[in-house]
Amino acid sequence: MEQKKLDVVLGLQWGDEGKGKIVDVLTPSYKMVARFQGGPNAGHSLVFGGDSFVLHTVPSGIFRDGTLNVIGNNVVIDPVILMDEIAKIEKRGVNIDGRLVISKRAHLIMPTHVALDAASESAMGKTKIGSTLKGIGPTYADKTGRYGLRVGDILQDNFKALYEERKQRHQMLLGQYPPFELPFNFDEYEKKWFEAVVQMKRFRFIDSEVYVNKALDNGTPILAEGAQGSLLDIDFGTYPYVTSSNTLSAGVCTGLGIAPSRIGKVYGIFKAYCTRVGNGPFPTELFDADGDRLREIGHEYGATTGRPRRTGWLDMVALKYAVMMNGVTDLIMMKADVMDSFDTVKVAVAYKVGKYTVDCFPYDGGKDATPIYKEFPGWKTSLSGLTRYEDFPEAFRRYIDFIEAETHCKVSIVSLGPDRDATVMR
Ligand code: IMO
Ligand code: MG
Repeated sequence: MEQKKLDVVLGLQWGDEGKGKIVDVLTPSYKMVARFQGGPNAGHSLVFGGDSFVLHTVPSGIFRDGTLNVIGNNVVIDPVILMDEIAKIEKRGVNIDGRLVISKRAHLIMPTHVALDAASESAMGKTKIGSTLKGIGPTYADKTGRYGLRVGDILQDNFKALYEERKQRHQMLLGQYPPFELPFNFDEYEKKWFEAVVQMKRFRFIDSEVYVNKALDNGTPILAEGAQGSLLDIDFGTYPYVTSSNTLSAGVCTGLGIAPSRIGKVYGIFKAYCTRVGNGPFPTELFDADGDRLREIGHEYGATTGRPRRTGWLDMVALKYAVMMNGVTDLIMMKADVMDSFDTVKVAVAYKVGKYTVDCFPYDGGKDATPIYKEFPGWKTSLSGLTRYEDFPEAFRRYIDFIEAETHCKVSIVSLGPDRDATVMR
């Protein structure tokens, strides 16, 4: 029997590729959208009708009527951030009742996890990861350390005791760190945290792996929404400057309880250039006027932390690696319009490392690599408002053709602006 498969949307770079917008655009073809990993370190921006919204924990299908949204088992949840987000969504007049379910197996980010994140980053000084300080690393560390607190635990009579036990352990750890500044008032946050935990109970806590598999059996079209990017993957990213989970398509299996054979299309999103927020290797990073132009024209400031993003040229070495690791079936190209005024557009096709030329993404993330560039003449015209590939300027089509030839993958969607409507389907 032909099995119904689940499609995936994920980022191929260092995050912020535009996953929120694309999930929102694709959602009308799906009945269910599921987040499979990451937590409120994510900031998914959606723009419609001149209005914008940033989602951190809630799947980006929430703004489309009739779509069910699932928070899967490998998502880490800060109840305060989740309930704050819910309040904002409802303020927009969106009815969320019965449209959001949460895995009982998802882990909770505790206030002490957030404190541990701050303590760890502060102690690392110059070598810090540049984390979003949302408690992601310590929460996943507790999960693999088998000391986590899960959504299902909220329904247990001894929840408070479980919390206290973990809190005490965290306090012991915090005592080991050199003095650091806590960026929030702990007692206030903890009070809000417990209030939010109670509020969370209005959503169904479910065995999402069973729920999602049964939905697939019944022929429900499901889209899995990635967070962060492939180069931030804990195993294959630019370690240790990564997040603490598997962001790749393989993470869909463990993050939702889906067998590998049930994964269908893998939509890989990339910007026509590169950005990175936080520390770590970034071979094609620009420190010149072109880099500043990418940041200003592209509004490259973090949706979660407001930090200016580092900017650089498209990196084909890294992109090909991400396409391979994810088994990308369809590429989605974002924000080429940001480079409308550029005379020349560059793409790194290999790295020079010492006396060697390397065209495969190295284990150290290209820390000492000097990119070798291929140059393309800019299209020097506005792409905005274009709706058909045939109408794209020749120079821009050549850029796309090159990417397709290098990755052996079709660019199926070209996004030319933040709004839902600025999307060209091929
Ligand atoms: P979306 O889903 C961009 C980065 C942080 C830092 C590293 C580790 O919006 O694409 P963490 O808080 O996870 O411990 O931080 O990962 N990072 C992101 N960068 N977009 C994101 O999410 C990110 N989530 C985490 O800046 O370098
Ligand atoms: Mg983002």
